[in-house]
Amino acid sequence: MNESHEPKPRHPQQSQHPQQSQPSPQPQKPLGRKELRRIPQAASLRRPVAFERHLIGTAGAWIARLRHAEAKYMAARHLWEWTTHVDHLRRRLGEMPGGKPDAALEPQLAAVLEEALFADDEAPFGTALYTVLLPALRDAYATYRDRTNELPDRPTVHILDDVIDTLTMQIGEGSAFLQRVYSTTAAGAGGSSEAWARHIATLLEAADGLYGDADEAAVNALRRFAGREYRSPDVMHRTLGSHYSYEHPIEGYLWSHNLKGDPSVERAALAVWLYNELDAAEYISPILYEVKGMPWEFYYDVARHTWDEARHSEFGFRLMQALGLKPEQFEVWVATYMSSIQMAPYERYAAVTCWYEPGSFQVKPDYLERLAREVGGEDLAVEMLRFDLADETLHVSFGHKWVEKLMRHYGDDRTQEEFVLYVKEKGTRLREEQGRTFIRTMPAEERETLESIRRHMERWTQANGTKTIAARK
Ligand SMILES: [Fe+2]
Ligand SMILES: [Fe+2]
Repeated sequence: MNESHEPKPRHPQQSQHPQQSQPSPQPQKPLGRKELRRIPQAASLRRPVAFERHLIGTAGAWIARLRHAEAKYMAARHLWEWTTHVDHLRRRLGEMPGGKPDAALEPQLAAVLEEALFADDEAPFGTALYTVLLPALRDAYATYRDRTNELPDRPTVHILDDVIDTLTMQIGEGSAFLQRVYSTTAAGAGGSSEAWARHIATLLEAADGLYGDADEAAVNALRRFAGREYRSPDVMHRTLGSHYSYEHPIEGYLWSHNLKGDPSVERAALAVWLYNELDAAEYISPILYEVKGMPWEFYYDVARHTWDEARHSEFGFRLMQALGLKPEQFEVWVATYMSSIQMAPYERYAAVTCWYEPGSFQVKPDYLERLAREVGGEDLAVEMLRFDLADETLHVSFGHKWVEKLMRHYGDDRTQEEFVLYVKEKGTRLREEQGRTFIRTMPAEERETLESIRRHMERWTQANGTKTIAARK
């Protein structure tokens, strides 16, 4: 990695840097009781923790812009891992006098992460993240670990060992993805990706690294997008050549009969539905960036929610593979993303947790029972549905926990019932307007239909010799 954005070890005595346990050469004025008890390392530890916390919002804002489902799954998992790091370290900072676990990230570093949002595609964003930002974060934690006094500060070191290992693993995974898909590497990314990563590295250098105290103006002077407001895309980004539809990706599939038809065809429809839950990871995750000033636990829950929806999509992907289907056979289903992203973040959160998710409970449990009767409880789809329903129960409980608090946070004094009704009306109106004008790109004759899926499932059952998909290999 570029040495220039490693934390600079040249001002070891400044309070914001990891402390070295050397006696001061000059006799100093005795410290007061309060200052004496303060743990000077805490001010240092707070820096990378605040940076990692800010990064959760940065990646959250970008999941909808990433192109490959695999990249979205990876980003959702990585941001969840950052969330668990912050959760542990925030608690640790709370134990250290002077720790200030919720202090904001220094403005010069926030400016670097704001600029990173304006990458023009997946490859430059990923290259900056996995070859500049995460290595800088990992090295800042490593600097702290190397300089603190291990015996008294062992609880921090214990957490950091794990954090550093996980970040190293993430850097490896991200770099391997970029190399495989874009032939760019940590050592030498290609073309515009490399130029963008260099730009972000230059900004980090201007900020004087994670432990530096450079002025925000020094970073802003070099930014290309200073002062620009970041917005989520109107339609989620997917791989080039993807087709998009406002209607269900299976021709003739009726929502009113959702998961109520032939269990075999419905299993394919379930795979398509779950795969398309990627949209939930795409419209929930920006909340991590858009909503400012809520308690940490809110972001913790939204990060978990984001990761869960990415996992549910991965369930669908695995089911499709098991059934001999490919995501490219189907259009990307845009209705929920496109209508939800037009709502204010707190409206969108209420729509998900008080409208869409309780709705899924009206059909999924019955289908789980029916499917288990037909194919047995060991089937992969049955197993996934069980976990899916457990996760969805958790998400609905998030709604009970946060919707009213979010309303008050935004100064909305309606009752929650009035508000949810308003959100449903708004969402329905948006869907009607958007659905009327949306032009699908897949030629009608290429669309999968109920009939083509039924024939496919017959062939699959014959070739498979059983209706059951082995849950474990
Ligand atoms: Fe889900
Ligand atoms: Fe959910």
